[in-house]
Amino acid sequence: MRDHGRARKLLDQNADVCFLATHDPQDGVQVRTLVLRDIVERKLGIFLNRSSPKWNQLEANGEFQLLLYYPSIELQYRMSGTHAHMDSDLVADSWLLRPDGSKYLDYYYDRIGAQSTRVDSREAMESALAKLQRSLPEPDGLTAPESARGLYLEIDTIDRLDLSDRSRLHDRRLFTFAAGRWTQQVLVP
Ligand SMILES: Cc1cc2nc3c(=O)[nH]c(=O)nc-3n(C[C@H](O)[C@H](O)[C@H](O)COP(=O)(O)O)c2cc1C
Repeated sequence: MRDHGRARKLLDQNADVCFLATHDPQDGVQVRTLVLRDIVERKLGIFLNRSSPKWNQLEANGEFQLLLYYPSIELQYRMSGTHAHMDSDLVADSWLLRPDGSKYLDYYYDRIGAQSTRVDSREAMESALAKLQRSLPEPDGLTAPESARGLYLEIDTIDRLDLSDRSRLHDRRLFTFAAGRWTQQVLVP
């Protein structure tokens, strides 16, 4: 995506993140920030843990909306589509580049408690994590646990709002991908 490249060049703080909203039948809409690892044509790569609510929500109903906002170029993207599992070799390779703390946390999710679950206290969690860490190899010797996952969000609908030209009406377009090609319609901004 060309605008993503422009934002990166301008060192936009949002260039490498996205805001993912999913839907949970009990808790309603859930939104969170994620690192946007990879953009390959219509596919946007994210990494997450299989124990997390977002994974369960996506697997259960597939509903999501992904928001990108680049203040540096005054562009907002609202996107939706479907999701596909990332190849486990790619997940395993990328996982090795994670900070040490994140690596151990993934093992915590696997062996002690799922991501986003409640704990009795921060101290209890830290002590369980420290104990787990002592039982595991040094960070360089760790490999991705089974619960580390990657997804591609495959986009078929994009609502692009361009606020960059302040002197005229904002430009807003709806791009839709069907039958192998994109079409666009102008929207009231
Ligand atoms: C800048 C930033 C980047 C983040 N990147 C990720 C990420 O790549 N993967 C991830 O699972 N959580 C990431 N998080 C944490 C999520 O926002 C969220 O708190 C966590 O994944 C639990 O989400 P859930 O309970 O909705 O599943 C990030 C948070 C911030 C603030």
